[in-house]
Amino acid sequence: MCGIVAYIGPKDATTFLLEGLQRLEYRGYDSAGVAVAGKAGTLKVCKVKGRVADLAAAVPANFFSKQRGKGSTGIGHTRWATHGVPSDANAHPHTDTSGRIAVVHNGIIENADELRARLLADGAVFTSETDTEVLGHLIAAHAVEGTELEDAVRAALGHVVGTYGIAVLDAAQPDRIVVARNGSPIVLGLGEKEMFVASDVAALVRYTRQVVHLEDGELATVRADGFRTFTEDARTVTRQPSTVDWEIASYDTAGYEHFLLKEIHEQPAAVERTLSGRLDERFATAHLGGLNLDARELREIRRVKILGCGSAYYAGEMGAQLIEELARIPAHSEPASEFRYRNPVIEADTLYVAVSQSGETYDTLAAVQEIKRKGGRVLGVVNTVGSAIARECDGGIYLHAGPEISVASTKAFTSTVIAFALLALHFGRINDLSPADGRRIVAGLKALPGQIREVLGQEAEIAKLAAEYAGSAGMMFIGRVRGYPVAREGAQKLKEISYVHAEAYPASELKHGPLALISPELPTVALVPDDELLDKNLTTLGEIKARSGRVLAIGHRAPEAKLADHAILVPKSEPELDPLLLNIPLQLLAYYAAVALERDVDKPRNLAKSVTVE
Ligand code: F6R
Repeated sequence: MCGIVAYIGPKDATTFLLEGLQRLEYRGYDSAGVAVAGKAGTLKVCKVKGRVADLAAAVPANFFSKQRGKGSTGIGHTRWATHGVPSDANAHPHTDTSGRIAVVHNGIIENADELRARLLADGAVFTSETDTEVLGHLIAAHAVEGTELEDAVRAALGHVVGTYGIAVLDAAQPDRIVVARNGSPIVLGLGEKEMFVASDVAALVRYTRQVVHLEDGELATVRADGFRTFTEDARTVTRQPSTVDWEIASYDTAGYEHFLLKEIHEQPAAVERTLSGRLDERFATAHLGGLNLDARELREIRRVKILGCGSAYYAGEMGAQLIEELARIPAHSEPASEFRYRNPVIEADTLYVAVSQSGETYDTLAAVQEIKRKGGRVLGVVNTVGSAIARECDGGIYLHAGPEISVASTKAFTSTVIAFALLALHFGRINDLSPADGRRIVAGLKALPGQIREVLGQEAEIAKLAAEYAGSAGMMFIGRVRGYPVAREGAQKLKEISYVHAEAYPASELKHGPLALISPELPTVALVPDDELLDKNLTTLGEIKARSGRVLAIGHRAPEAKLADHAILVPKSEPELDPLLLNIPLQLLAYYAAVALERDVDKPRNLAKSVTVE
């Protein structure tokens, strides 16, 4: 949420800043801006309400740093509004009254009102409604003659309560950028006599693979020829660079119209990577080396509590179902955003599992920290290696799904459920799952990539159905037991990218209230797998049709014409794994409904990826 970039080196900073912001636009896209050090201790700032393309158009021709030859320095930002509406004034970078210090910020300054009042009393002139602007003034107040920028930033942050990833530029010291991290990621990219900074490696991979992730509470002074990391109390810390192993191609649409469609199509390969090296056919189990729990410790676990937000929470619901079915351990998924506020009881024999694609979601991170503070044990199911949540957990499973750029999650969702299937299998084989059932699940998992490809092969027919249903005022999604989380995820995907209202209900609950909504104007997407609940599901379809409701059935065989208007069929897996395949057509349905309605598929309104605010 919000993207930060910075450059210092021999080239024009603006070129990298604009390109980097374009790469980070999925993290926020309501306004954007850049600041570069100009000649003779001045700053040039350009910022606009709108997209990075609007910013690029607004940057004047003479904007580039006049220090060419001596090198150039700049910072940039793409915003997802928290304090203050999207506007030119509220866009970052923010400067102090004299225009000497510029700051870009990701996070929330909780005591901004109090700081603003103090700074106003001291004569600061504010030009925006943002919390970030206090940082510029506060740093300027400490940047008195002869003070190093890093000392001014450290002193200013000493007054700040809240979360931040920041990059600071001082026109009087243009040979450096100071960055700091507390709750919002900052990554340094190491080049040849040039340095890059970003809130996400997506902005850096075209320029360098050598990166350094700052830890919370750390700052860095970045110069063209290197960097120094230190703590808030000025102790130097040594950080070794690591190599980014994600492919550059993952950050391009590679001929697809949208990242979302590309990521939907990447699922067979993503699933293969999540499974790679983890299935053991001989012992019919899964190997998960990162759990850091031996068989004896696992046998002592009495409950599993899964925590995540949005689609990660729904993937956790599928995970809970898998763990209960295969390992016979009570398991439950809860939104991390609720859990963290309700003073949860933390039990020693409960295993907590945090789910996050980005590894940055603040609510999930806060839930992990609360559990750990109370002595609980937390595993992470995370896509982004080295992310805050991954680092905070005691162990876990990396998804290896590859970077997910589209705001709506698809391939990471599927890989998360695969990771839970592996965990449930591993757990199950330590508990009561028979070798025969273990073999059945191993074979089922191995077949999934090919089966997902088969579903994707129906893209053209699903696109036609999506266009037909896209005009509806709203849609109902129903499923029973294993199908219910699929219905929830399907409804979430549809509403977030097409803005068509969608409700998800357990099929069994329809007659207890929502059946009143059923009419020809509110079609129902029904999950009807060919499992032990098929007859019950068909009865529900009969109840909908008796109220003139339209039904699109997703299952393994087409229901009779009197029960469903349309059907999308998916290959049969093992019953426990069927939800994974039933979900794929719902992704395509949401995608093509959004396309039919001409929505901004990869950047839906009001949303941003990686929700690093509360
Ligand atoms: C929906 C979606 C969001 C995320 C949620 C958690 O398509 O993408 O609901 O799933 O914001 O994000 P992560 O998994 O990064 O913690």
